[in-house]
Amino acid sequence: MEDLDLTHIPYDPVTFNPEIDNPTFPQLEQPQDNQMTVDGIDLGRHLFYDPILSGDLSMSCSSCHLPSGSFTDNLALSKGIDGIEGTRSSMSLLNVGFNYRGLFWDGRIFSLEEQALLPVEDPIELHASWPNVVQRLQESELYPEKFRKAFGIDSKDQITKDLAAKALAQFERSLISSKNSKFDKVLLGEDVFNGQELLGYEMFFDIYQGSNPDIPDAQCFHCHDQPLFTNNAYENNGLDESQTYEGFTDLGHGKVTGIIGDNGKFRVPTLRNIEHSAPYMHDGRFETLDEVMDHYISGGHFSPTRSTFMDSIELNTVQKEAMIAFLKTLSDPNFNENPDFSNPF
Ligand code: HEC
Ligand code: HEC
Repeated sequence: MEDLDLTHIPYDPVTFNPEIDNPTFPQLEQPQDNQMTVDGIDLGRHLFYDPILSGDLSMSCSSCHLPSGSFTDNLALSKGIDGIEGTRSSMSLLNVGFNYRGLFWDGRIFSLEEQALLPVEDPIELHASWPNVVQRLQESELYPEKFRKAFGIDSKDQITKDLAAKALAQFERSLISSKNSKFDKVLLGEDVFNGQELLGYEMFFDIYQGSNPDIPDAQCFHCHDQPLFTNNAYENNGLDESQTYEGFTDLGHGKVTGIIGDNGKFRVPTLRNIEHSAPYMHDGRFETLDEVMDHYISGGHFSPTRSTFMDSIELNTVQKEAMIAFLKTLSDPNFNENPDFSNPF
């Protein structure tokens, strides 16, 4: 019989302290029973990029969450190993550890640990079974040692789906963008906006609050507030028309809470690195930031749950271009290329 014992491998966990280096940021909360360690993140990173997690060994988490797309797949709707298209667009995992008010577009899941269990068995994603995946991990050359180093298990048969999910969650919490965008550098006094970016900034945050007729309120900050550029709330930004509470094609958050006042609401996503994660919205309906701005300028479609902040906004072409220029200051040149986040294989 094969030797399952791992105790000859040292278990020496080293705490990982995320480098946020931005005083405006909140604390990164971590579950008591899953604090980040260097080896935990390393294991999670390997699992994230490894097709060992999929039924036919053809796809991994990274197939739909690619670093080049700010950890999206740059598709309107994602496709799993069987080529079946889902109904939602892949989400950026940038700063995902700060999403304390529910995950997914509709908020149906609460923790990254819980989330990480789902794609493996989802028939339109990795379409495998956890017992098979766990068996592959136990029999692999690579993983038993990594699980030992990350979690101190004594034997290969202590590898479980829950430990795999914990490691994935640790890696995901490390995907932080907090200090390298032009926006952050301006705030930290290390750079300055050009005139166009400054105009966009002033409209985004309504700096003049109506006192300057040349600088209209674009209303964005109510939902996409700094520093995360999301308030993590669920809002209806007027994507779909419905005369009634029940008439939405996708009920969104309402399907989760059962409250009709939540119908048609979706989680406000971060705008950090938004330049790299097209197409936009939960169903990827807008190809460009230009189309997104046209939507906000029009105020979108009527429905009973549309936010009162979604009144049409009056921006001329110069102002619209300035908004887009400001949004691009949220791009983090180091994030997509960060060697710590890249494919380790
Ligand atoms: C087939 C494509 C696909 C694969 C494979 C995939 N995802 Fe996703 N992921 C998505 C889509 C689509 C969503 C949005 C789903 C929704 O809101 O209903 C999403 C959402 C998420 C979210 C929620 C982010 C947030 O801010 O709420 C996390 C976390 C995540 N995925 C992690 C993973 C991990 C970890 C894996 C591998 C175990 C994985 N994904 C595999 C497509 C995929
Ligand atoms: C009432 C709250 C609210 C306001 C105000 C608001 N947004 Fe949004 N925004 C959202 C929500 C909710 C979504 C996701 C909607 C969905 O996909 O169903 C979103 C999505 C986006 C997206 C696409 C993000 C992605 O990852 O696909 C961009 C870009 C965006 N908003 C920019 C802006 C800008 C610029 C402004 C100001 C002109 C603005 N938003 C005002 C709530 C708001």
